[in-house]
Amino acid sequence: MGRLKGKVAIITGAANGMGASEAKLFANEGAKVVATDIQIERLNQIVEEIKKEGGEALALEHDVTSEEAWKSVVEKTIQSFGKVDVLVNNAGVSTEKTIANMEMDEWNKVQDVLLNAPVIGMKQVIPEMKKLGGGSVINISSIGGIVGMAGTSPYTGAKGALRSLSKAAAVEYAKDLVRVNSVHPGIVETPMTAPAMEQAQAYFQTFTQLPYFGKPEDVAYGVLFLASDESRFMTGAELVIDGGWTAL
Ligand SMILES: NC(=O)c1ccc[n+]([C@@H]2O[C@H](COP(=O)([O-])OP(=O)(O)OC[C@H]3O[C@@H](n4cnc5c(N)ncnc54)[C@H](O)[C@@H]3O)[C@@H](O)[C@H]2O)c1
Repeated sequence: MGRLKGKVAIITGAANGMGASEAKLFANEGAKVVATDIQIERLNQIVEEIKKEGGEALALEHDVTSEEAWKSVVEKTIQSFGKVDVLVNNAGVSTEKTIANMEMDEWNKVQDVLLNAPVIGMKQVIPEMKKLGGGSVINISSIGGIVGMAGTSPYTGAKGALRSLSKAAAVEYAKDLVRVNSVHPGIVETPMTAPAMEQAQAYFQTFTQLPYFGKPEDVAYGVLFLASDESRFMTGAELVIDGGWTAL
């Protein structure tokens, strides 16, 4: 308890999966959480659960691909809680496309959510963190940002770019005490992986060295560490939480 006491955190894609788990864990550790998503009904349920447990949270409907929507989220965060210490760029979509069988608009839509949205988020939030004298940005990439994964080129391409973008941002803002790290989950059981799990469970297990897949909280604990001052000497780093997939 209290690892994020006094901090204000924006978490995108917080209606489901890892984002929801991070929102609950952060609130439990004393953060004031601004939970955002396009799925507002589900998001409201998560925020109600947080409040029932005695946490502080605000649910905001937010399409991460819109810069106007980001401006409004930052404005409402400042109005409600006075500042932003932590940004978790978590919202995501998955695709199953190879390079030759995709249309460019499919490529662009995935880049909008997985890559351009974290750029807009950092652009809008980092100036607020600078005013405060520092902050922590956590960009949720994937093992797909480190190793190739067949049949997911738009996803893997975006997550790889997010990995290097995080390092560039880390170098740009280190002097302002704004830390930027990326997180690289392996196969985690969430609504995103549920459909693929039906057909590809055995394939996923071949690569996942531990004999089980991740739960959302397995990643949330890593994100909590990066959000807290316990990781004050970490920036531009990659936190891999993958059951050993990339150790192969
Ligand atoms: N589940 C995995 O195995 C896995 C592995 C590696 C990386 N990741 C990454 O982790 C993050 C969370 O994934 P998850 O598995 O919890 O997914 P999820 O599908 O359970 O949750 C993703 C959330 O993002 C929201 N979202 C999608 N598009 C949005 C938009 N335009 N604006 C705002 N919100 C939007 C969805 O509504 C959803 O609530 C994603 O970035 C994903 O790519 C997941």
